Amino acid sequence: MDPTVLRMKEYKQHGTTTTYEHCVSVARVSYKLDRMLHADCDREALLKGAMLHDLYLYDWHDAKSHKRLHGFHHADSALRNATEYFDISPKEKDIIYSHMWPLNLTRIPKRREAWVVCMADKYVSLRETLHRKG
Ligand SMILES: [Fe+2]
Ligand SMILES: [Fe+2]
Repeated sequence: MDPTVLRMKEYKQHGTTTTYEHCVSVARVSYKLDRMLHADCDREALLKGAMLHDLYLYDWHDAKSHKRLHGFHHADSALRNATEYFDISPKEKDIIYSHMWPLNLTRIPKRREAWVVCMADKYVSLRETLHRKG
């Protein structure tokens, strides 16, 4: 696995779940949703976008680690890092950019891959929050 992606193991997402584990779960659920819905997604973009959607690389619980409201702005940090460290396609950009819809109300997903990851992220986040141990 890429060392930049592995850096997500250093940060907690919800409860005791690391951001890395969260992204792996979102990739798994995205794959399942794609099959279940017969959405015919571009699988490479779907999985790469899902793995990179939260590549913001800071501890969001620590207010000093980031300047603005995490919920609204972490997709921009993730997109900046993904663009810096990887060669990402317009589809993958859209996945990262719009994954926080509807919190970011104007960032409506444009492609099927972005819709699937957006929904998978909501489901996985709810599951992690309900089953949190930490
Ligand atoms: Fe996110
Ligand atoms: Fe997420």
